Amino acid sequence: MAILVTGGAGYIGSHTCIELLQKGHDIVVIDNFSNSKQEALRRVSRITGKTFPIYAVDLLQKRDIQKVFAAHPIDAVVHFAGLKAVGESALFPLRYFQNNVTGTVNLCHVMMEFNVKRLVFSSSATVYGATGQMPLREDAAVHAINPYGRTKLMIEEILADVYAANPDWSIVLLRYFNPIGAHESGEIGEDPNGVPNNLLPYMAQVAIGNRQQLSIYGGDYETKDGTGVRDYIHVVDLATGHLKALERTVHIPGVHTYNLGTGNGYSVLEMVAAFEGASGRSIPYIITNRRPGDAAVCYADPRKAKQELGWQAMRGVERMCMDTWRWQVKNPHGYERSRISAKHLSHPLSELSLQK
Ligand code: WQD
Repeated sequence: MAILVTGGAGYIGSHTCIELLQKGHDIVVIDNFSNSKQEALRRVSRITGKTFPIYAVDLLQKRDIQKVFAAHPIDAVVHFAGLKAVGESALFPLRYFQNNVTGTVNLCHVMMEFNVKRLVFSSSATVYGATGQMPLREDAAVHAINPYGRTKLMIEEILADVYAANPDWSIVLLRYFNPIGAHESGEIGEDPNGVPNNLLPYMAQVAIGNRQQLSIYGGDYETKDGTGVRDYIHVVDLATGHLKALERTVHIPGVHTYNLGTGNGYSVLEMVAAFEGASGRSIPYIITNRRPGDAAVCYADPRKAKQELGWQAMRGVERMCMDTWRWQVKNPHGYERSRISAKHLSHPLSELSLQK
């Protein structure tokens, strides 16, 4: 199929592009590069040996989206583009609602204009809030507790209304738990701007020596060791979940919701131990106050995805930590100043058409 990937230069987007290309799909990538690097797409091309159109497009510029749809036949859209930092969303809610919600409305408008009716949307377990009954099932109550989570929930509801008005649309909502890890090559991975909000990239930067110590947010939760418990899922497992959604469900009209998690919960201290084992480095830490908005425990019931998509996570936490560490060692400063620079690419960059 010909797949438009929005936010394809991002952490999950770039890993999904690799899986799509290796499965034989044609892709077109749009990204505004506000929170991602073109270098990630150069490496996708090098890893797969394939080139693909790339457009620097912001979803708030509807005309630019239309130009891409006019230039390329599109069978389905995988929609990753969006701001995703919980803390930042509380500081700049309007930026999050405009970028995530208005951007998605623009995208759906253009899809309608070009008669494209298949959409896979990058949602999040954050829509469940902090008080759900574990493990979380897709029919659990939803109650977002921060602006970022509210944008995801609003978009899910908008898409349900789009389907109600257009019953020939097929929409898949994928609720991610905690994506971590990196492609086995170590060439692409998570490259957050500034100070990482999330546990794994922060821990990797401590291990490589770029940060002094890890602050563990809360040691007094009602959990096995007092620290927060999460369902960490390898980003490549997450990527293959998108392929299964495209293969199995995106041809069936309706709105189909799936948790993409492993069904296993690991505490922060367990992840510290796992990362120390994978990296051979010790992770100095201090236990500080809880982070506002954090749930004590959050992990998935992934049975629906297994039954209906034929998908399940295949990689364990040791592999997630090993792959994260390999990426960090090869790219101590992320894409910006990594050892691999564009001039070493095996194909002419001109094939990666960065055009308006
Ligand atoms: C994991 C655990 C923290 C950092 C968020 C979003 C979610 C998704 C993934 C976008 C918690 C603890 C963390 C640190 C710590 N993002 N922690 N020290 O908050 O579960 O989920 O990111 O889709 O939507 O909500 O992930 O990695 O920030 O935290 O102790 O420096 O690690 O308290 O228990 P989270 P996280």
